[in-house]
Amino acid sequence: MKITVVGAGNVGATCADVLAYREVANEIVLIDIKEGIAEGKALDIWQKAPINLYDSRTVGTTNDYSKTAGSDVVVITSGLPRKPGMSRDDLIGTNAGIVKSVTENVIKHSPNAIIIVVSNPLDVMTYQAHLTSKFPRTRVMGMAGILDTARYRAFLAEALNVSPKDIQAMILGGHGDTMVPLPRYTTVSGIPVTELIAADKLNAIIERTKVGGGELVKLMGTSAWYAPGSAAAQMVEAIVKDQRRVLPVCVQLDGEYGIKNCYLGVPAVLGKNGIERIIELELNDDEKALLETSRKHVKEVMEVLDKLGK
Ligand code: NAI
Ligand code: 2OP
Repeated sequence: MKITVVGAGNVGATCADVLAYREVANEIVLIDIKEGIAEGKALDIWQKAPINLYDSRTVGTTNDYSKTAGSDVVVITSGLPRKPGMSRDDLIGTNAGIVKSVTENVIKHSPNAIIIVVSNPLDVMTYQAHLTSKFPRTRVMGMAGILDTARYRAFLAEALNVSPKDIQAMILGGHGDTMVPLPRYTTVSGIPVTELIAADKLNAIIERTKVGGGELVKLMGTSAWYAPGSAAAQMVEAIVKDQRRVLPVCVQLDGEYGIKNCYLGVPAVLGKNGIERIIELELNDDEKALLETSRKHVKEVMEVLDKLGK
């Protein structure tokens, strides 16, 4: 198995590191446009192998896509991150061009790859990768829901003073403030979370989750990378090992949830073919309304991309 991670910045390097540490593939290529950075970080990860005891080989390259040839999965993290005061959508002008050119290079050398997009604005950059690659929707997806759900689970674990391992949850919708957390589908080892926490506390956690990315941007001056890099690696692992994990994934909806031609996060089964199946939850009217707000927002940004003509 061969994995390529495009962008050797904070998220890309973390993703490559997690993939190597977990021995998800025997060959992991890190590629960046900035001279030497991917080579350096790949070498550093490789030199960690004797300490952490893994044998996945990490290789870095500056923009030489021939080294990525025949990749089974490609993770695209290249692009600008948010700075304080910016929304994810502010990144579209720059990142659409980057994701487009990267995808063109990726598909030339790995025509059968499954693409996982991380660059922001996530839902629309996934659309960009789909437009450029013309791959079927089962092979082009975005990572955001695992991260948003992880933030929600971590906040809940802290509030309830229980292990985050035991919090199961699902967040739908776009990767932004309109995301749709689903308390009805949140459990603590099967116990409905609503039985364990007061409604006002749960609402406060939901509101904090919605702006969870922004909280970190304010603290660090740039966006997060440990959880995002690990979340992307989890998707790669599910595909490479054909685990059939049920995870929130950004996919092109084609009638599911009554929505067409829009990229949104929904539960999906991930396996060797990429998106093996989309799971449609029964939503109540309030949840449907929240998902519709999220759809409208993502669609507006997709239309901005269409106007840019990328
Ligand atoms: P970073 O600035 O640390 O790394 C980005 C890397 O992309 C840099 O090394 C840069 O040289 C490289 N790059 C730029 N243009 C390139 C090109 N044409 N080809 C190859 N490499 C290129 O940024 P970071 O923190 O790693 O974030 C990366 C992206 O991921 C950002 O757009 C950020 O907003 C997004 N992100 C998305 C998340 C999600 O949940 N979907 C979570 C966290 C970040
Ligand atoms: C995050 O949620 C900025 O999308 C990035 O951390």
